[in-house]
Amino acid sequence: MEISISENASGCRIAIYPGSFDPVTNGHLDLIERGSRMFDRLIVSILRNESKQPLFSVEERMEMLAEVVKHFRNVEVDSFDGLLVDYAHEKGASVLVRGIRAVSDYEYELQMALMNRRLRPEIETVFLMAGEAFSFLSSRMVKEVIGLGGNIHGMVPEPIEARLKNRILEKG
Ligand code: PNS
Repeated sequence: MEISISENASGCRIAIYPGSFDPVTNGHLDLIERGSRMFDRLIVSILRNESKQPLFSVEERMEMLAEVVKHFRNVEVDSFDGLLVDYAHEKGASVLVRGIRAVSDYEYELQMALMNRRLRPEIETVFLMAGEAFSFLSSRMVKEVIGLGGNIHGMVPEPIEARLKNRILEKG
């Protein structure tokens, strides 16, 4: 079987990088940079119908992402509802980008990738690894550390660090 990453009608390879991004970390940003070099367009998209209680609203997360990706000419920020593969299809995307850190990520990511392939076989999932400096980072841990008064410098982009501090203070 030949596997190729298909181009859309205008010869453009579009990839979606989906996630919660609550908030974007330097690990996410590292993957965005890698993805932006691999594809003609990279759409970083936030899931709207999230069951988890997020720290930031979808609009706030989109605003933060837009701020930190503004220097990539081929990266855009969006949000989606419902099935990821249907959203990708609507956008003319042929690739889903996901980051893998430790082996512990693999099982969930594999399940998701195989489910997505079953739903729409023409869409490939591509796993990327962030630089090793970011391999321990997650939004959840960053929130936990800052909530307990720890130092998160270098874990999130600077404008996000300030917003996180303010939000944690607001929440008391
Ligand atoms: O950053 P996250 O929270 O690990 O991202 C998870 C996300 C948004 C990629 C995943 O929950 C998702 O794709 N949800 C959309 C619903 C869907 O398509 N489900 C079927 C595939 S399992």
